[in-house]
Amino acid sequence: MKLLLSLLLAVSIIPQPKAVEEKKGAFLLDGKTAVVARHSEFAETAADFRADVALSTGFDLPEHKSWCGKAIILKHKSSIPEEGYILKVTRRKVVVKASDAAGAFYGLQTFRQLLPGAIYAKEPVDTLWEAPCCRIEDSPRVSWRGMQLDCCRYFYPKEAVLDFLDMMAMHKQNRFHWHLTEDQGWRIEIKKYPLLTEVGAWRDETCGYDGPGDGIRHGGFYTQDEIREVVEYARHRHITVVPEIELPGHSSAAIAAYPFLSCTPNQPKKVNTYWGIKDDVYCPSPETFKFLEDVFDEVLELFPSPWYHIGGDECPKTAWRKSDYCKRLASELGLESVDDLQYYFVKHFDAYLRERGKTVIGWDEILDGSAVESTVVMSYRGHNPAIKAMNRDMKVILCPNRFCYYDYHQNEIADTFKNHHLFITLRKAYNYNPTGFIGDSLMQAKGDLILGYQACVWGEYIPDVPQLEHQTYPREAAIAEFCWSADDRRNFDDFRMRLLKEFDRLDARHINYSRAYWNVIVNMNLESDYPREVELTLDYPFAEIRYTTDGTEPTAASPVAPATLTVNEGDCIRAQGFMADGTPVGVPMTRIFQKQPYSKH
Ligand code: ACM
Repeated sequence: MKLLLSLLLAVSIIPQPKAVEEKKGAFLLDGKTAVVARHSEFAETAADFRADVALSTGFDLPEHKSWCGKAIILKHKSSIPEEGYILKVTRRKVVVKASDAAGAFYGLQTFRQLLPGAIYAKEPVDTLWEAPCCRIEDSPRVSWRGMQLDCCRYFYPKEAVLDFLDMMAMHKQNRFHWHLTEDQGWRIEIKKYPLLTEVGAWRDETCGYDGPGDGIRHGGFYTQDEIREVVEYARHRHITVVPEIELPGHSSAAIAAYPFLSCTPNQPKKVNTYWGIKDDVYCPSPETFKFLEDVFDEVLELFPSPWYHIGGDECPKTAWRKSDYCKRLASELGLESVDDLQYYFVKHFDAYLRERGKTVIGWDEILDGSAVESTVVMSYRGHNPAIKAMNRDMKVILCPNRFCYYDYHQNEIADTFKNHHLFITLRKAYNYNPTGFIGDSLMQAKGDLILGYQACVWGEYIPDVPQLEHQTYPREAAIAEFCWSADDRRNFDDFRMRLLKEFDRLDARHINYSRAYWNVIVNMNLESDYPREVELTLDYPFAEIRYTTDGTEPTAASPVAPATLTVNEGDCIRAQGFMADGTPVGVPMTRIFQKQPYSKH
């Protein structure tokens, strides 16, 4: 326990800073501590800090232009890299130096993380607000440090989105990719086309991929005022909100609202109640293009982001192949096949948005067939699309689904979703290494084309906010550290120690994070034959794994598990962590080894 306490008091920052020097003593934040922003560029950052810490401390920290007493001082220093900072904590002063407001903001986030985790609470907490003295020098590894959220499969209220942004800010993530349109729901108010939300934001029920319906009408949308509020909230946290308006596929909610957008307008339409890829996609007609241009015109007013995501994934060409109009159009345009109407679509909207000062991002299918080279490729089907894009000198953002799709569960205990057998443990998410896939030589020659990385939280199996939190945390801290901290500063053993304090922060926010950290996880290659090698791991660092093979519950007297075990089909392993004094950790894990059915991913 003493060890635990000293760990919690030590510098324990996520993402891991570039350089940390720990010093003797502590700074005590009290109600008389002044916040001093000498440079007008930092005035808003200082005001936001005062407002944030007022919630948990109850202090109305005085604001000054200069001050010689106890203070937190923000100073401008032009030699510090973009988004970087130097933070110096002494007994009397906290000094944050930065060359831009983002750096000052991140310096203050680090200072908050030096304080007890309760500093992130939104209600008053009675504690001693002490931060260890130290000097920290820091700046990010990549510029795109993202999280994607699918608010379409299920609708999450604005407050959940704001909480999501708060957590991103806590971990210095700066790109919020907001998936706003889908087959199962259109979530953004467009004033010129009210049926998009009157009709398109609602589905009759939810049937999963193939199940019976639950009979529950589902839906919701963000008004333009709410969108503005989210964008402004994000701006204060140095997060750019990148909207995704999908085309040409995943568009059946819009088509249900306005059937003229389809190649088969006279057939019955409805907002989809099943997940999966749908054949009814936008028809590449002048009317559809006009509609989408009108939509973008309103969206452009709402999102100042220089990046716009236009989807582009999973667009079957079935409807186009059957359509005389599409066949004629493809031939008039001199395209090789009707399928290349996808290229025509992307090219048109890339140009439309580029003329308005935006850079277009698309899922990696935009590389299939002809590619519009000014677009940024979001590589999710592994790394081959990224390699293809880099070889064409196109910029990429990496979110390979096997590492970065946080809708996959974190272990197999209490996290299990129907039809969803693959999982991405915290350790796997953390240890993601793109170089192993992309190769040293391409990474060295063209690694600069990688803008950065992001995790995606798709919603098919996330019906509510507690489940959203369960899927997202604590893995969001793993991708954040991957994006921010240099290779030689990342180490899972160190990260899992720092998570102990991270959980205090998440608790302060009442976040329903996954408890997989305290449970034994079976790591194995699901595709390997039996007998199969499996590795048992436990992220919580202070317990030993004990296990049984006879179906009985493990106890403190059960044998300690070896690093790897060999299992046969039909074997049963039960395992749990135990402290040295015999106290169990987490819940017991039970695994019967059978052939794994595969999930859709
Ligand atoms: C995707 O997962 N379809 C982008």
